[in-house]
Amino acid sequence: MDLHERQRIEIQLFLQALQLRHGYDFSGYAPASLGRRVRALAEATQARSISALTERVIHDDAFLTEVIGRLSVPVSEMFRNPPVFDLLRREVLPLLASYPQINIWQAGCARGEEAYSMAILLKEAGLYARSHIWATDISESALAQARDGIYPLREARLYSNNYLQAGGTGSLSDWYTAAYQHIKLDESLAERITFAHHNLAADGVFGEMHLILCRNVLIYFGDELQQRALRLFRDSLVRGGFLCLGDRERPNDTRFTADFRPLASGASVFRRVDGRA
Ligand SMILES: C[S@@+](CC[C@H](N)C(=O)[O-])C[C@H]1O[C@@H](n2cnc3c(N)ncnc32)[C@H](O)[C@@H]1O
Repeated sequence: MDLHERQRIEIQLFLQALQLRHGYDFSGYAPASLGRRVRALAEATQARSISALTERVIHDDAFLTEVIGRLSVPVSEMFRNPPVFDLLRREVLPLLASYPQINIWQAGCARGEEAYSMAILLKEAGLYARSHIWATDISESALAQARDGIYPLREARLYSNNYLQAGGTGSLSDWYTAAYQHIKLDESLAERITFAHHNLAADGVFGEMHLILCRNVLIYFGDELQQRALRLFRDSLVRGGFLCLGDRERPNDTRFTADFRPLASGASVFRRVDGRA
């Protein structure tokens, strides 16, 4: 048996242990990239082998947060893919403005960058006071950082450029203070955000949403898990509600195309067209 095959078995046993011991099921993730992340976890934690990781995941409870943090890629930026935020600002917010209460679910929120971007968009549109953002993720360490709203100062230039490209009318620096090589976002931005744990592979519907953002998460999932997540989104959206996916995430199976229409041709924002009111 070659090394590659041995490692494939080790990875499978590690993922099984993670599920049996802690209930996290990664079996529906795309195997190649998940395998790379398991190997990176072993390297970063200086484990002798992937089997040593398995032993640790069974016996060391405190290890779980790091495991989930490293397997789940909490990489993001404020106003990532600015044209999408521009589209939300110009086309989606004016339609959401007709609801007395605007419910937004941001699934896979990483360290909160996207949720705070959405809060700024809503504030600038005068809609924040009647909005609520539920920002969820599988990674507790990412959620803890999201609640702090503190980011490295070196990211500020990128975030500011993104904000302007997204049609921002002021300056992003109006929304943060800088100190000690970090920026701290204005606390008023968090007032209507709830950061919470939710696992798209295991947990249920988040009812009556008007807008769901789930960008750059489905790319890590295999087909079945993608279908599960898309069903959750459909069932959590009001009729006419909006779903915003990542730029590389364009489901085209018949179920999805029956339920959703792109806002414009090629757009990554979709509108729910059938189903419950
Ligand atoms: C690459 S980040 C995307 C962040 C942000 N949406 C963006 O586009 O910049 C992927 C996020 O999905 C989260 N994630 C991965 N699997 C998940 C699952 N089963 N349920 C919920 N979140 C998950 C990860 O923890 C990570 O924070």
